[in-house]
Amino acid sequence: MTQHLAAPATTTTTGTRAEPAPWWRDAVIYQVYPRSFADGNGDGMGDLAGIRSRLPYLKELGVDAVWLSPFYASPQADAGYDVADYRAIDPMFGTLHDADALIRSAHGLGLRIIVDIVPNHCSDRHDWFRQALREGPGSRLRERFHFRKGKGPDGELPPNDWESIFGGPAWTRVEDGEWYLHLFAPEQPDFNWEHPAVQDEFRSILRFWLDLGADGFRVDVAHGLVKAPGLPDIGSGDQLKLLGNDVMPFFDQDGVHEIYRSWRRILDEYEGERVLVAEAWTPTVERTALYVRPDEMHQAFNFQYLTTNWDAQELRTVIDGSLAAMRPVGAPTTWVLSNHDVTRHATRFANPAGLGTQLREQGDRELGLRRARAATLLMLALPGSAYLYQGEELGLPDVTDLPDEVRQDPSFFRAEGQDGFRDGCRVPIPWTREGVSYGFGAGGSWLPQPRAWGELSVEAQSGVPGSTLELYRAALAVRRDHPGLGAGSMVTWLDAPDGVLALARDGFLCTTNTTGAPVRLPAPGTLLLATGPVTVTDGVAVLPADTTAWWTV
Ligand code: GLC
Repeated sequence: MTQHLAAPATTTTTGTRAEPAPWWRDAVIYQVYPRSFADGNGDGMGDLAGIRSRLPYLKELGVDAVWLSPFYASPQADAGYDVADYRAIDPMFGTLHDADALIRSAHGLGLRIIVDIVPNHCSDRHDWFRQALREGPGSRLRERFHFRKGKGPDGELPPNDWESIFGGPAWTRVEDGEWYLHLFAPEQPDFNWEHPAVQDEFRSILRFWLDLGADGFRVDVAHGLVKAPGLPDIGSGDQLKLLGNDVMPFFDQDGVHEIYRSWRRILDEYEGERVLVAEAWTPTVERTALYVRPDEMHQAFNFQYLTTNWDAQELRTVIDGSLAAMRPVGAPTTWVLSNHDVTRHATRFANPAGLGTQLREQGDRELGLRRARAATLLMLALPGSAYLYQGEELGLPDVTDLPDEVRQDPSFFRAEGQDGFRDGCRVPIPWTREGVSYGFGAGGSWLPQPRAWGELSVEAQSGVPGSTLELYRAALAVRRDHPGLGAGSMVTWLDAPDGVLALARDGFLCTTNTTGAPVRLPAPGTLLLATGPVTVTDGVAVLPADTTAWWTV
């Protein structure tokens, strides 16, 4: 039955921009996971030289900026999120000279570089922590971390009941009997952010990278730096979920905001619209909005969107809620479907809804890819900034059958099989059809790539109409040609059949069919781009199952 795309049913508004907006308000930002993007020296591990050699690919893809996961000197207990020296590059990734060259080359191509800063914790090999251990209980250097005496007659019990996000107690006892806090792995001791030396050190680290030309920072665990006074027990005995949104005495404490205000003042001293992006898992989008008040950060990841099921009503609710939450603070909304911590969205959508973000099954791969493509095109039609994770433009699935012996995710070893499947989204990218690591490098690859990945490679998909890579390229080109697409913070919802979303923005319309069956609609305009074979006959469009189409009106 033909349905009508009639006048707006509801309108979400905030005003349009009067003058050119800063670049980041509608930027498409591509996450590079350095270990797995491109290997320049053939040692099986991605590196900065490899990334630099592939910048033209990213330029051609059409992104505005590149966010690099950590490349700092690190023992790699958590793939570089355990930093031993914030001003040095790990030899496996290259040198500071390589970082400088990478930033310069990116700028030469008109790409911005956002680096990952990890302020909640460092590595247990960081000089400060080693000194703190050496100097013993009561030393001033221990005050830079959270050292405590244990409970029980001999202090043999942890100081409180907090559990590590990677599983097991959040406390580890050292030889002299004291315990130290680590919200993540024992190799990642938490800094004490009450301490002025910690605050000063990070302000200096920010300047170091800003001076080198970094266009901004993705702030790791931005919600974790300040702990509730007295480090109170949680008491509920609830098992923590990796990257959960629960209210906890070590997450989303109000004190974190003063830190970001002081960081913002530093960024504002620099030219070129440098940005701060919060990785902040909070209980609500309203709490997330607090991180992007005008004098704090510029953007925060929208994890509520990432965790939404493939369901029109749920998507619409989250889209409206996300836009509404950012409105009072004037920050752009961000959108993200995949990153290095969650099962890739092609595999999430291939599985039944509600299984979370750490999956072990391939599910229905064809269905997953169809939905993933449709979800991406919907995301790129929304106002604000969108984050892409390397390889999603190839439609890569998660690798769900990695042998245990190659896994490196610390939570795999600590969470007793409940979590810890993040290696599956970190498998190196296939660039070519053939070759020892499908063009990732001249050597092997630190995680094995599935055999079928040659056919998903950049080479195999380039120039192939309808391939996922060409879909991303086309979508990003349309977004560039229609600057109104990512701008503002307004979507206009049109009436649409159940399970279908129809949203209008500035002479442009996006229809998404989340149902498993084709839907007929009055063709709302001229077809611009679609994720599946949309047909238009005598003014009637047929939108196949799980398909998004863009139209001009
Ligand atoms: C963030 C990172 C994740 C890391 C954790 C600890 O959530 O994205 O990869 O394990 O912080 O630094």
